[in-house]
Amino acid sequence: MAAEKVVLVFGGSGTIGSGIIKALLKSGKVPRIVSVARTSEKLAAMKDKFGNLPEDKLLIVEGNVASEENAAKLRDDILAKTGKITDVVSCMGSWWQKGPLLDQPLSEFKEVCDSLLGCHFIAAKTFLPLIGDNDGSSYTFITGSENYLYVPNIGLLSIFAAGLVRMIHFIMQEWEQKSVRINAIHINVFVQDPLNTLPYSDPNSPAIDHEVAGRGISGVVLIPNARGKKLPIYSEADFVKLAKTGTL
Ligand SMILES: NC(=O)c1ccc[n+]([C@@H]2O[C@H](COP(=O)([O-])OP(=O)(O)OC[C@H]3O[C@@H](n4cnc5c(N)ncnc54)[C@H](OP(=O)(O)O)[C@@H]3O)[C@@H](O)[C@H]2O)c1
Repeated sequence: MAAEKVVLVFGGSGTIGSGIIKALLKSGKVPRIVSVARTSEKLAAMKDKFGNLPEDKLLIVEGNVASEENAAKLRDDILAKTGKITDVVSCMGSWWQKGPLLDQPLSEFKEVCDSLLGCHFIAAKTFLPLIGDNDGSSYTFITGSENYLYVPNIGLLSIFAAGLVRMIHFIMQEWEQKSVRINAIHINVFVQDPLNTLPYSDPNSPAIDHEVAGRGISGVVLIPNARGKKLPIYSEADFVKLAKTGTL
């Protein structure tokens, strides 16, 4: 058992992030999980969602990575409570589908950039240096297929999802010599929380339960078989393989 692990999950209130937290908790292999809520209301809702677990099992900290200052404060607040972070899963960003690209005001362009790309940039530049030189540490980015899909009215989502893929590529290259394992899981299937189903159904491609996805993503954190890898997911079987082997 990786007795020393303290895993920080960004996006823990969301579909995928909550699946990761549930899977890490059930694995029994991570003594302490940390997540972040952007407001006190969200903090209360998250605690409730995971059954009000004690803070030495699941610590939910109020904070955000909307600016470098806020992120530094969040890092210091977490470290004051846990003493260390060993692994990070960055799973932030919500669906955006608000209309044709050139109808969007510049303010929306900038807001979506901050929300889908800026948060990953700030989280990485704040938290990666903490674990970069630590053997056994990992930083896992979660992305989707929005960067290459053509779906009407998702222009801004697609642009910044593509930017995220390139950002991850550069971070992997620039941190290649460090001890930390940096991986990216590109999810090309729909994932849903059965308690909060998506307005989507396709009999040929049913949505995958978020705990199945969470177990797969946990595999990459817990089994050190992937390093600098882009791990594309096309089916439930891919998540199952990740859960067993930590790689594809
Ligand atoms: N669900 C799927 O089918 C699917 C498929 C492929 C890929 N993905 C990828 O998985 C990731 C998460 O998707 P999801 O379905 O879990 O989305 P979701 O249910 O909408 O959850 C998004 C999470 O990101 C957080 N978040 C959003 N913007 C943020 C910001 N600016 N700063 C900090 N946190 C922010 C949200 O926190 P708050 O609660 O504070 O808003 C929430 O925890 C995305 O990268 C998405 O591309 C999802």
